Amino acid sequence: MENLRTLIESYKAEINTEHPATAVEKESFRIKYLGTKGLLKSIMGEMKKVAVENKKEAGQLLNEFKIFTEEKFASFTIAENASSNNAVPDMDLSLPGTPAPLGTRHPISIIKNKIISIFYKLGFAVAEGPEIEDDFHNFSALNMPDNHPARDMQDTFYINQNPDWLLRTHTSSVQIREMQKGKLPLRIICPGRVFRNETISARAHCFFNQVEGLYIAENVSFADLKQTLYFFVTEMFARPDDSVGRGTDVKVRFRPSYFPFTEPSAEMDISCLICGGEGCNVCKKTGWVEILGCGMVHPKVLENCGIDSNKYTGFAFGMGIERITMLSYQIKDLRLFSENDLRFLKQFESV
Ligand code: PHE
Repeated sequence: MENLRTLIESYKAEINTEHPATAVEKESFRIKYLGTKGLLKSIMGEMKKVAVENKKEAGQLLNEFKIFTEEKFASFTIAENASSNNAVPDMDLSLPGTPAPLGTRHPISIIKNKIISIFYKLGFAVAEGPEIEDDFHNFSALNMPDNHPARDMQDTFYINQNPDWLLRTHTSSVQIREMQKGKLPLRIICPGRVFRNETISARAHCFFNQVEGLYIAENVSFADLKQTLYFFVTEMFARPDDSVGRGTDVKVRFRPSYFPFTEPSAEMDISCLICGGEGCNVCKKTGWVEILGCGMVHPKVLENCGIDSNKYTGFAFGMGIERITMLSYQIKDLRLFSENDLRFLKQFESV
């Protein structure tokens, strides 16, 4: 009897130290003490050893211990219910949630994606390259050797005053990198940020975004260039009120121009989208707006990249995404694109 009493006391002490905190711990408690192979069952087995005259007292003792253990177990359950009961009344599940406003795409990104998707239809793939460039890819390979006056056309940011390293002034550098890979025919567009040391104003910025294009194959002609760009313009500036539902009301014209890396070279204008060609402030009363430079790739550029200029010809073009975006949305100040004014940016929400 004495043994049984001490045993039970020590088990009680042990049980008092148990504080299961999780459902898993509580279940382990149940298995350990109350389960079919648990402690309680094994002490019940001790009853056989108790002398007959003590059986009644021992039975009471064991019964008490059983109730003690069961109540302990139940108290853990109550504690858990109590904590979740507290949380529920404060919560109204029918209330609308806190709104998580969706961000909007930057207008430059919207137009860049649109330009890419138009050229994608013609089979042009996107190529990208580094913003920090070397002199060869940005200038020399493009037929602008040292001291070539055309280098002054683009006010270059040099890195640590090192004449070899610069921030690319156009994404033509990416075209050089692609041509050097030697896989022909080549049909790519190169979107990306470019840098020029200009004073920031409504019409100029020290960085802006370009999409340049390049097509090199056998028998590529200026006619291919014109048709490609005409297709681009009609798709880009399609307006629902156009006579045939595409941008065919937009006229294009080519003016002779000069770039060291193309020959012949041209600049392309489109009829002013604001006044329809009648003359306004945006087109400076001319009815035309310049949107890009283009031309047939200079044979020297092809040779600089290891391409046989007797076998292959190609055309290239380059445009500023900011200019196209300003025309598309009638935005009059370039600075709006980089000021991060939410009142401006939120207007493009629906697109
Ligand atoms: N690289 C020229 C620029 O940034 C644009 C251009 C590209 C012109 C290709 C002609 C042909 O000014």
